Amino acid sequence: MSYFHRHNHPYRRKVNKEPVLKAPESAEIERASEEIFFCGDPHGYFDHILKAAQEHRPKAMVILGDLQPPAPLHEVLEDILSFVDVWWIPGNHDTDNDYFYDRLWRSELASHNLHGRVALVNGLRIAGLGGVFRGQIWMPPLSPNYTSAGSFIRRIGRGNMWRGGLPRRHRTSIFPSTYDNLLTQKADVLVTHEAPGCHRKGFLAVDQLAKNLEVKYIFHGHQHEDRHYPSYFGFTPRGVGYRGIVTLKGDDVVPAQIDPREVEAYEEKPPMSWSSMPLKRLG
Ligand SMILES: [Fe+2]
Repeated sequence: MSYFHRHNHPYRRKVNKEPVLKAPESAEIERASEEIFFCGDPHGYFDHILKAAQEHRPKAMVILGDLQPPAPLHEVLEDILSFVDVWWIPGNHDTDNDYFYDRLWRSELASHNLHGRVALVNGLRIAGLGGVFRGQIWMPPLSPNYTSAGSFIRRIGRGNMWRGGLPRRHRTSIFPSTYDNLLTQKADVLVTHEAPGCHRKGFLAVDQLAKNLEVKYIFHGHQHEDRHYPSYFGFTPRGVGYRGIVTLKGDDVVPAQIDPREVEAYEEKPPMSWSSMPLKRLG
């Protein structure tokens, strides 16, 4: 039984139908394959994105969350915006403080946030699901605690609101209402921060969304792992690593860097010294 049917809870409400974007010809997908780049979590560093844009001149770039820009996003990317169409989805760390939030949601690129919608990017329909699943709201496959931002706000009351609405942290939480709205649409590519079910920390809910959208490709960030996965359900997932950049076909433009969390973990474990090695008893 499909994820959708197993979890067809009564909370599902009628959603507003978005206008259906026309599917591109396969030749158009082929043409676009070298012209759209997907960028793994930048975490405050954008030099490689600027350099790749200058060198390869892609038509569009999509950033897969955890941008944490050091200045408003349009200022950070100022040198390339005249020739590259830059789109983004938020990651969980993009609501860590007011600065990161404002540099994205109040930047001139705020309208290029793909979360919860499908947009035409260089001729391809790209659907976005930014943020993460959080247990307080919804941790699939469990039933959600809240179906929408509105229902959560009504419960927490005025005192816990942020800027008159949803607490900042939950502005990067995935609500069922956003997910359900996407389920009714069609796209060629799905970009997510969370990984699909083929990753050990991924979610089948992402696969189900990709299936409903009838996409051919999924690109995800968050796990900081450069991963090629086999195709299934008609789509090919690709995990884009920490500060890596890949094409639509999944080829590396900029190889991913090692996740600093892994470096730290490695450095905490010093190499085994001779004195601590078990010695073989002789004689
Ligand atoms: Fe990240």
